[in-house]
Amino acid sequence: MDKSGSAVATGLRGVVAASSSIGDVNGEKGELIYQGVNIHDLATKSTFEEVVFLLWNGRLPKRAELDELKKNLAAAYELQWQAIELIKGMCSRAPKGTDPMDMLRTVISALALFDEEKRDLSRDASIRVATRLTARFPAIVAAIDRARNDLEIIQPKPELGIATNFLYMLKGEMPDEFDAHVLDVALILQADHELNASTFTARVVAGTLADMYSCVTAALGALSGPLHGGANTAIMKILLEIGDVDRVEDYVKNALSKKKKIMGFGHAVYKTEDPRATHLRRFSKEMGERKGNTKWYDITAKLEEIMKREKNLLPNVDAYSASTYYMMEIPLDLYTPIFAVSRISGWTAHILEQYADNKLIRPRAEYVGPRNVPYVPIDER
Ligand code: COA
Repeated sequence: MDKSGSAVATGLRGVVAASSSIGDVNGEKGELIYQGVNIHDLATKSTFEEVVFLLWNGRLPKRAELDELKKNLAAAYELQWQAIELIKGMCSRAPKGTDPMDMLRTVISALALFDEEKRDLSRDASIRVATRLTARFPAIVAAIDRARNDLEIIQPKPELGIATNFLYMLKGEMPDEFDAHVLDVALILQADHELNASTFTARVVAGTLADMYSCVTAALGALSGPLHGGANTAIMKILLEIGDVDRVEDYVKNALSKKKKIMGFGHAVYKTEDPRATHLRRFSKEMGERKGNTKWYDITAKLEEIMKREKNLLPNVDAYSASTYYMMEIPLDLYTPIFAVSRISGWTAHILEQYADNKLIRPRAEYVGPRNVPYVPIDER
């Protein structure tokens, strides 16, 4: 029951809306597992491709199975001409500053037109569609950035993994090994997070037995909001506005006095350290040390100290991913699309699970409006 006496769980907090074996978040312990495997093990020992297999199949792959998945992903990497035309057209016609999340969502929606298998919701066909989507997300995001900067679109190299390929296609040159490793782990860390807003959205759409592109297009819309995936770009803007570690204290006090939120802090489920932040904090620090400038890490660390003291709020996955990406010279507005490059694996896993044991998701609303309102003819109102 909330403050007003309503039985509605505002924002569905604490409501268990699905059974799932894909991932679990223990907010009290700060624990995250994918199919039973602890995120700390995955972040230190696995690769994004292995995690994709794990999420889709419920267990870690044998070597031959992983090779097969990588082969299938590589075979689907290349962007079709329809996607390239669309991206170039959008970049030349859309207003300057158009959010790449809007373009990514539009391209995914459009690609549905060209996937003849999309209405076959059997597991085998759905895995093939999921493979195509997961393989193409990085190429689409990189192509959007290249096209909007009037640069040539670079096709992926089949021998590279998703993280390395993405940086290669984005920058037009082979990335630094450490940068590629950091991105690979960042993709692992953001791959799934139980019934977060975008995954729940994907499941609601899958529950109608709509095709996977519809589910993913809707999920992309949900992810774009600043309270969800958009928070990583928002916090980087805050870091840039602060600009110096000595200004953090004043900035936070001023923001909190105006009831403004500091993005990248707080979480709907975690009441203790978000285990994803543990790794991204480490990477932000190391990236700063390697690049010879720890300023962005230092400002985030100071924010962490003050937010804990003032509001007892802790950093979430976005707090340190922002400065890490910034130091990798990734444009700010690509942080959320990169989140999508990762989360496509979790979305598709949940869509597969929903298709396999489907029930239309149709909750009720507590009606709080008036009743018996007479219909007054328009001229008498
Ligand atoms: N900065 C400042 N205050 C914050 C805050 C933040 N990042 N997050 C929560 N709060 C405050 C709220 O203002 C509210 O204060 P009040 O009770 O005085 O009104 C209180 O904490 C509860 O906030 P609420 O948004 O209702 O909590 P929640 O559990 O629903 O929020 C989030 C979870 C993630 C939506 C919220 O912490 C947030 O907006 N964080 C910033 C966005 C972000 O980083 N999102 C990515 C999540 S992975």
